[in-house]
Amino acid sequence: MSKSNQQVVVITGATAGIGRHAAEYLSERGYRVIATGRNPAILAEIAHKSGGKVDTVRLDVTSEESIAAAVREVDRLTAGHGADVLVNNAGYGMAAPLAELTDADLRKQFDTNVFGLMAVTRAFLPQMMQRRAGRIINISSIGGRITFPMFGAYHGSKYAVEALSDCLRMELRPFGIRVSLVEPGPIATEFANRSMAEVSKYKSQAPESPYGPVYARADRLKELSDKQAAHPIKVSRAIERAAFGRWPSARYVVPFSSAVMLWVLSRLPTSWRDAVMRRFVGLTAKLVKPVAQVTAAAGSSGKRSVAA
Ligand SMILES: NC(=O)c1ccc[n+]([C@@H]2O[C@H](COP(=O)([O-])OP(=O)(O)OC[C@H]3O[C@@H](n4cnc5c(N)ncnc54)[C@H](OP(=O)(O)O)[C@@H]3O)[C@@H](O)[C@H]2O)c1
Repeated sequence: MSKSNQQVVVITGATAGIGRHAAEYLSERGYRVIATGRNPAILAEIAHKSGGKVDTVRLDVTSEESIAAAVREVDRLTAGHGADVLVNNAGYGMAAPLAELTDADLRKQFDTNVFGLMAVTRAFLPQMMQRRAGRIINISSIGGRITFPMFGAYHGSKYAVEALSDCLRMELRPFGIRVSLVEPGPIATEFANRSMAEVSKYKSQAPESPYGPVYARADRLKELSDKQAAHPIKVSRAIERAAFGRWPSARYVVPFSSAVMLWVLSRLPTSWRDAVMRRFVGLTAKLVKPVAQVTAAAGSSGKRSVAA
């Protein structure tokens, strides 16, 4: 792996979890890191802890103005050079059954995980394209390859990240820019807690939800996921390989146990996989509460009621 202090690595969502670990890890390994994020106090803490080695820049990936200001600031810090490596890491998970998920929450999920990622990428691309060199590393998820029930919004966003990255990889190759996906399984960060906050919100907003028993199992499922969660260093190492390896791969699944799980699940017939997943989260006819009354629009004839 060729290490060069000249190479500028810009990381989004670097104020917590994977992004913060990757920023600190790569800086300790001698790379020039610009950590970006929304929280100025944490950015200051990261800069201080690194002894000034890590530069920090404010960046909310959902704000056009913030992206434009961040690009200007990165230009200033690098004397107009810009980023050599862009790590699109900012993101969050949202858990709720699709039948109850609000349109606003679905859009918010895509605003951050998909539209934010693309807007930041476009903003940092021009200098890479001019130099005909660069690396873009998109932090997706094994959830961009397989789908767990209750995480539809998140999976939808990560499947989109996968498709966009596959397309970018081909479109940018003639410009010497390599695009890789890093696909983590459960990693010990704030991610699960933040997803649980979303579950709690839906649980409290829908006390009569037919998904009540599934909501009630959410804590237990989180415990199971926490037990399996790997250290973020697994992701940071994959990011380093994607950023500086001579032959970057299209995909890095981490940790190894998640690669095995993905391999096994993707080989099951869809109906078997569905059955495994449904049982896992408690989506069985017995567990899901009966829907007392469903009211749905029935075209121009008005509304119809369906008794359970
Ligand atoms: N941990 C896992 O198990 C896991 C598994 C698969 C994939 N991933 C992916 O890994 C990435 C990082 O997640 P994590 O596990 O490190 O979670 P995390 O500990 O919750 O950290 C998420 C980071 O993203 C930032 N962020 C969220 N929205 C942002 C926005 N609009 N603009 C800028 N920054 C924003 C957060 O900043 P604030 O503090 O300001 O919100 C935080 O720094 C995500 O893309 C996630 O989907 C995680």
